[in-house]
Amino acid sequence: MTTATPNRTDTTASRPIGSDRTSSMRAIVQQSYGSAESLELRTVDQPTVGADEVLIEVQAAGVDRGTWHLMTGTPYLIRVAGYGLTRPKQPIPGLDVAGRVVAIGSGVTRFAPGDEVFGIASGSLAEYATAHEDKLARKPHNTTFEQAAVVAVSGITALQALTDVGQLQPGQTVLIVGASGGVGTYAVQLAKALGAEVTGVASTGKLDLVRSLGADHVVDYTREDLVDTVHRYDLILDIGGRNKISRLRRGLTPTGTLVIVGGEDGGRWTGGVGRQLRAMLLSPFVGQRLTTFISKEHHSFMERVAEFIESGAVTPSIGHRFDLDHVGDAIRQMEAGTLRGKAVVDVGGSGADHPD
Ligand SMILES: NC(=O)c1ccc[n+]([C@@H]2O[C@H](COP(=O)([O-])OP(=O)(O)OC[C@H]3O[C@@H](n4cnc5c(N)ncnc54)[C@H](OP(=O)(O)O)[C@@H]3O)[C@@H](O)[C@H]2O)c1
Repeated sequence: MTTATPNRTDTTASRPIGSDRTSSMRAIVQQSYGSAESLELRTVDQPTVGADEVLIEVQAAGVDRGTWHLMTGTPYLIRVAGYGLTRPKQPIPGLDVAGRVVAIGSGVTRFAPGDEVFGIASGSLAEYATAHEDKLARKPHNTTFEQAAVVAVSGITALQALTDVGQLQPGQTVLIVGASGGVGTYAVQLAKALGAEVTGVASTGKLDLVRSLGADHVVDYTREDLVDTVHRYDLILDIGGRNKISRLRRGLTPTGTLVIVGGEDGGRWTGGVGRQLRAMLLSPFVGQRLTTFISKEHHSFMERVAEFIESGAVTPSIGHRFDLDHVGDAIRQMEAGTLRGKAVVDVGGSGADHPD
């Protein structure tokens, strides 16, 4: 194993409270943008905390589409947005995290060493990772670390899409396109918990998963049109498939709302963000509300999702478990679309499975 130094956080403003951490750790490292082949397991220095940051001993890390985009550096728009023009500024990938706090910055007020947390970190595919305290919440008492590690990125996106952005009301009908994926598996469960009648759209082999999450109806997008002449929805969450706006609008009631969450294969430069822009430009001129958003990574949303989990209304969907040596396999499964829900990487060593 070789040694590399990860992007360090500014420590000048802080004196960490907790153990004096100067030793090394195992971490996934990528020195250049590229495919899963560009990921290497290395021994590197542990990160140090800034004033408002927490150092987490990572027990498990989730793998999400955002991690894939930051790994490949596509769409190129994200490079311009500050993630590194020619190589990733943060050479350790990974956002979703669950683990134990081992040190805190001088300005941290919400956490202390020993706390069990989940949230969004910087470089979670490692034995230790830092996170801003505003991006962390306490781990739900009824989840394992692995379950908690797949909650933050997807759970808060689904919650915001349905509530703050989609303004879903009890009794309304909602169509969730991409119901079997990271965001969609939370959206189905949250929409049911919020009192909606839910139709979930997925591929043939994952319809059973979507039903098991509580969807009232399912649509197999590989065999039938997700929009027919009979059903009209108060809210459509467009999470996968990049369907045309005109097609999605046909599935809405005259005053219904379309929330575009995302969708892959939109092109290397902008990721197809033009579709979102077109929807927002069209919206003022039609009776329906057509909108999009970028999720706010704040602990208040994580705490709201955690409440749904603790009440039993939402259970994280783990598609596959991997260990740190097999992060590349997790990424490849996500690319192939074979995951049901999300992939988790067991960093703490409680056991993982991976393809032969
Ligand atoms: N706006 C935000 O702030 C935000 C936050 C998080 C994520 N996102 C974006 O949201 C998107 C989804 O993320 P994710 O984590 O849920 O991804 P994911 O886990 O890969 O799930 C993708 C979903 O799309 C479905 N799908 C694929 N092709 C389809 C088609 N042709 N028609 C209909 N459905 C299709 C998949 O169904 P099958 O697997 O059954 O084929 C799956 O349910 C990504 O583009 C991500 O970047 C946006």
